[in-house]
Amino acid sequence: MGIIFHEEEKQFHLYNDDISYVIGICPDGEVGHLYYGKRIHERQIVKAYQTRGVRALCCNRKEDENYTKEMAQLEYPAFGNGDFRTPAYEILQENGSRVTDLVYVSHRIYAGKKGIPGLPASYVEKDSDATTLEIVCEDAVAGIRVTLFYTIWEQRPVVCRHARVENMGKEMLDVRRALSLCLDLPDAEYTWMQFQGAWARERYPMERDLSAGITEIESMRGHSSANVNPFVIIKRKDTNETQGEAMGFHLVYSGNFVARAQADTYGKLRFVMGIHPQWFSWNLAAGEAFDTPEAILSYSASGLNNLSQSIHGFLNDHMVRSPYKNKPRPILLNNWEATEMNFDEEKILNIARKGKEAGVELFVLDDGWFGARNDDYAGLGDWFVNANKLPNGIYGLSKKINDMGLQFGLWIEPEMVNEDSELYRAHPDWVLGAPNRPRTLGRHQMVLDYSKPEVVDCIYKQLYDVISNASIHYIKWDMNRSITECYSLGVAPEEQGKVYHKYILGVYSLYERLMKAFPQILFESCASGGARFDAGMLYYAPQAWCSDDTDGHERVKIQYGTSYGYPIASIGAHVSAAPNQQTGRFITIGDRANIACFGTFGYELDLNEISDEEFAEVQKQIQFMKEYREVFQYGKLYRLQSPFAKDTAAWMVVSQDQATALVGLYRGCKIPNVGIELLRLQGLDADAVYTVDGSGEFYGDYLMASGIPTIDVSGDWFHGNEDFSTKLFVIRKK
Ligand code: GLA
Repeated sequence: MGIIFHEEEKQFHLYNDDISYVIGICPDGEVGHLYYGKRIHERQIVKAYQTRGVRALCCNRKEDENYTKEMAQLEYPAFGNGDFRTPAYEILQENGSRVTDLVYVSHRIYAGKKGIPGLPASYVEKDSDATTLEIVCEDAVAGIRVTLFYTIWEQRPVVCRHARVENMGKEMLDVRRALSLCLDLPDAEYTWMQFQGAWARERYPMERDLSAGITEIESMRGHSSANVNPFVIIKRKDTNETQGEAMGFHLVYSGNFVARAQADTYGKLRFVMGIHPQWFSWNLAAGEAFDTPEAILSYSASGLNNLSQSIHGFLNDHMVRSPYKNKPRPILLNNWEATEMNFDEEKILNIARKGKEAGVELFVLDDGWFGARNDDYAGLGDWFVNANKLPNGIYGLSKKINDMGLQFGLWIEPEMVNEDSELYRAHPDWVLGAPNRPRTLGRHQMVLDYSKPEVVDCIYKQLYDVISNASIHYIKWDMNRSITECYSLGVAPEEQGKVYHKYILGVYSLYERLMKAFPQILFESCASGGARFDAGMLYYAPQAWCSDDTDGHERVKIQYGTSYGYPIASIGAHVSAAPNQQTGRFITIGDRANIACFGTFGYELDLNEISDEEFAEVQKQIQFMKEYREVFQYGKLYRLQSPFAKDTAAWMVVSQDQATALVGLYRGCKIPNVGIELLRLQGLDADAVYTVDGSGEFYGDYLMASGIPTIDVSGDWFHGNEDFSTKLFVIRKK
């Protein structure tokens, strides 16, 4: 298993038990695509880039009259040489030409996988985990070398790709587009799934038919965004959760991106994904190179749920780097919704003390602890303690929290600055903004110019001082506005096309430095909730605050949508106060917890302010979560009923040994006089006997083929009066 090269046919077959990816060299030397999908025997390959009998308008080459790029399936195509579809790259040369012709020069196959300089990327634990193919192509006229990287994983239906562009000539090159992948498919009979939304309603799945024209999503916000996620599924039209072909595509990147599918009028489909070429221009001097971010291609021949399970395992095992990798996540209590910025040490200690009594493990101090931060207008950029609120400093507070037996965590928003801050007063040119023009504000803040190493350095030093002088186990890294007026002050005009990407490289470099200096820290990424929830971030922060919307009813939709592309252990989910801050809806504390447990779990309210009965319930919830969190966070997820299709949603997780399953059932509006519906379970051991909530004896096959009733005959599973109610079933092998 791995990669076979057939010298004579010049074909590469990347394969494992589940998938095959076949690449061939075209008659004119370009790298062609032959097959991607379910594992096949090698001899089944036809040279799909040959297009005999098709009349093309003036686009064949001398080498082979029957070959036209217009019809070819290509791995990294250009525009301008006979292929009229969306290109993978575009390079402007000094003479003004953009015409390029990359031809195969050499290749290398080796065990393992290399990292990508400055960028997040999946990694092997040992070289036998994966095999990598590097194909080197060159354009001798312009002095361009492009290396295409492909890694096929041994035990996963996953191929990872990226490209490196190098200037091998003497003249400058201006890379105007360098996407991470192009995948040409022989037909376009597919449906596209994107995960879209906005603040407080992130990652709702949405489908579009792909059979004609262009389908595209993008972010030009400087971050991956809540509006549309850099994860796309392309599936056959009859694919559902449990059957059919589906392909997943993640961009391992947190900045501007584009994903586009183009169905041509010959019925073929091209899919591309990568850094958005708008406002992108990366000049390369002789000898310099540019690496694209990685794209992860995942595949399932048996439905979306299987695709998600493969993705979850892959991201947990080969993207997350953290002492908490594949470990249960601490149950935390965050003070944001309890106090916002209005607190002092005593208030915080009171909240933390009650958290300890409830059983939480980690207390997190959110926004408002630094500089002159008493509201949104001031303080960002000044990462030293606000002594009026915390006279004993972060050190003193963290020590007191530790002495209670709790770990201590801290909120930061290191990419931002307020006009009213010492940092901005000292360095007004450290923010992104066009010369002589007003700047658009977001939450009264500006974006620091992370394309400048001195800015990243200054923030690193400030944070280093705070963290190294306290006892900190967790950092919530927030980012609360998009980038506008993207211009780096004082930097040469020809460098301005690099700013968006260099900004993200700056963010990654700060993460990397902090991780190195403080390896014990658990990072949670956040961007006004889930506006930067992507595979790139998971490389640094293994969990992400999924949404500011903690209303149980809304959270089911948000977490359900998120689960298509991201593991449960990455989904930051808390119980907050009711009525909910975002929706005003009242949901019982039990129902709120029944959603949050399918995530990292924690609380975001003042536990002193809830009733004694509720507090007793919280104590039980925490005990329950401690017992089952490993199953919730690392069990296999099965989506049973979509909240986007029905008013009642359901999902379940099954422990890897199939001994324990936890089923969450969520009913939207109260329905009078319903009959008994059965919810069919999945993933159990068919031959084993299980109890449901400690009673009965049911074979796994019965629970999967027939199901459990979604209402109790006695009618007491759902509360009488509220519109939203939930039920959590514990299924245990006898
Ligand atoms: C963002 C986050 C919240 C909270 C606030 C603090 O909105 O999503 O969780 O941290 O910032 O200002």
